[in-house]
Amino acid sequence: MTRLEKPTEDAAGTRLGVYLATQKNKGLLRFLTCGSVDDGKSTLIGRLLYDTKLIFEDQLADVQNASRKFGTTGEDIDLALLVDGLEAEREQGITIDVAYRFFTTPARKFIVADTPGHEQYTRNMATGASTADLAVVLVDARKGVLPQTRRHSFIASLLGIRHVVVAVNKIDLIDFDRGRFEAIVADYRAFADKLGFTSIAPIPMSARYGDNVSIRSEHMPWYDGPTLIEHLEQVVVDDDRASAPFRFPIQYVNRPNLDFRGFAGTIATGRVAVGDAVRVAKSGKQSLVREILSPRGSVKAAEAHQAVTLLLEDEIELSRGNMLVAPEAPPEVSDQFTADIVWMDEHPLLPGRSYILRTETDQTPATVSELKYRVNIENFAHEAASSLAMNEIGSCNLSLQAPIAFDPYGENRSTGTFILIDRTTNRTIAAGMIAHGLRRATNVHWQALDVDRKAHAALKNQRPRVLWFTGMSGSGKSTIANLVEKKLHSEGRHTYILDGDNVRHGLNRDLGFTDADRVENIRRVAEVARLMADAGLIVIVSFISPFRSERRAAREIMRPGEFVEIFVDTPLEECIRRDPKGLYERALKGEIPNFTGISSPYEAPENAEIRLETVGRTPEEMAEAIGRWLEENQPAAGDE
Ligand code: ADX
Repeated sequence: MTRLEKPTEDAAGTRLGVYLATQKNKGLLRFLTCGSVDDGKSTLIGRLLYDTKLIFEDQLADVQNASRKFGTTGEDIDLALLVDGLEAEREQGITIDVAYRFFTTPARKFIVADTPGHEQYTRNMATGASTADLAVVLVDARKGVLPQTRRHSFIASLLGIRHVVVAVNKIDLIDFDRGRFEAIVADYRAFADKLGFTSIAPIPMSARYGDNVSIRSEHMPWYDGPTLIEHLEQVVVDDDRASAPFRFPIQYVNRPNLDFRGFAGTIATGRVAVGDAVRVAKSGKQSLVREILSPRGSVKAAEAHQAVTLLLEDEIELSRGNMLVAPEAPPEVSDQFTADIVWMDEHPLLPGRSYILRTETDQTPATVSELKYRVNIENFAHEAASSLAMNEIGSCNLSLQAPIAFDPYGENRSTGTFILIDRTTNRTIAAGMIAHGLRRATNVHWQALDVDRKAHAALKNQRPRVLWFTGMSGSGKSTIANLVEKKLHSEGRHTYILDGDNVRHGLNRDLGFTDADRVENIRRVAEVARLMADAGLIVIVSFISPFRSERRAAREIMRPGEFVEIFVDTPLEECIRRDPKGLYERALKGEIPNFTGISSPYEAPENAEIRLETVGRTPEEMAEAIGRWLEENQPAAGDE
């Protein structure tokens, strides 16, 4: 089957490059379609491609056959099948969230971000929107403005889109009723006027029959505005990417031999010419551009959207994740900033949990240090919130493990965005737009201390360790931890126990047992354990610590080999039978909400250093076993 021009994201650079080269001197408009599921997005894209003759004859025959078999349009061609069929193919590749389709008219060329998916729609929409100049918001004429219409319009506005087409689709199904159309448009304007769009163009249409898509409808003499294509051809959007300061995120360093060291990537914004001074964003080092290699060979200059390899005059330290930038207008470099985020995962955002933050080329672990507010999608009011659920939008502070280079999104849409990735599932869970760096990040420095962790440990004549006991309430953590401490103490070791029940009386008195509070509970105790390990102690932590994510984050902030996870593995039935504090009895009666094992999950460790099956063994035996393990597994010298 002949395919539509359908570049994957990776191939997009080169194929687009070729396409654009042949279409030179024509304006380019990037747009996306959005709206609720079933509002007709696939049909509309199919219609645009069909009307602009980008569908090849044999492909059309395929669709015609398929339409007869599966379509919903009788003898007509079901254009949605065309796009959906391609989607199904693409979904086998999974990695691509958005495909870019291009088509052209005599007046302009177009790239439409085709954002597939149904439940995950918001995520894909946000991905597609970050490069778009215009959004076609589809509204089903029978249903009018829906919450999803508002949400997608808001996201589009957050993402910096300034032009909207309100495509009131399926107008044939309401008999081309002018009154209904105008009521929907009034509804839309009532909320969208707050979103800062420069242009809102309402168009009544039927994507299925082609009314007002590229051909003026005969059924709506009352409408004298442009067709969708006419509007897309004429709308004035300024692509300011070439005029913004130079930003070149490094995708990879190309070093085939000692004499050649090229920095490859796509120019995000601005221009660069041979001889220009450039600056390394994170280090501030400068050099001059010696040569610019494009897919068509050496060139004198290049600008935004072009994929090039830059050769510099000097050998400077520069790798993937860093950026080359204009020296006179450098980006911010910080490990803390404020951002607007769109949450896209069914598991809610939990402040304090460690996620992977990824920019175009950089990545680092990051946590939401403070959720400032959630946006109410009905009236766009700011509401207090402790987490964000799927599809919710909010503003938060983020704290990164390592600094990144960025621009505020309002100034640069390419270098001001990021996504968050779940560390266990690897799924994209949020899209973010950076508002500004936090000054406190640049004002707080690490204080260099003369008596360092080595000195502390040496004086105590021991290697610090963090023995992290995890298990359900009543599993026996505290009893065993207590015996382990007694044993170590009697051997002259310097130890300290951090116990959930005790720490919750003081430091963590403000925390309860919701997922969000438990995440914060463990984050704090891990930080305390780290400080104690720095002080040279063998720290014994005894917390349920039910989530893998937080146990992993705790492990990661300790030195290599220092963290020993001890899974006190007691079956739930046995914990209930023991019920030392009478809590299970109450929890089972429904008197204690969010009780671990009953109404809140416990995620058992998969790779604990020590796993203790407690049934049939005495606490003393198990404490002995831990003692032996510790002797046999001393951390290697020099680990600190
Ligand atoms: S954790 O999940 O955040 O790690 P933590 O270890 O601090 O929990 O505290 C657990 C102790 O709090 C339990 O041993 C129990 O005595 C008490 N507790 C009170 N309510 C709950 C609850 N809903 N779930 C679990 N433990 C609870």
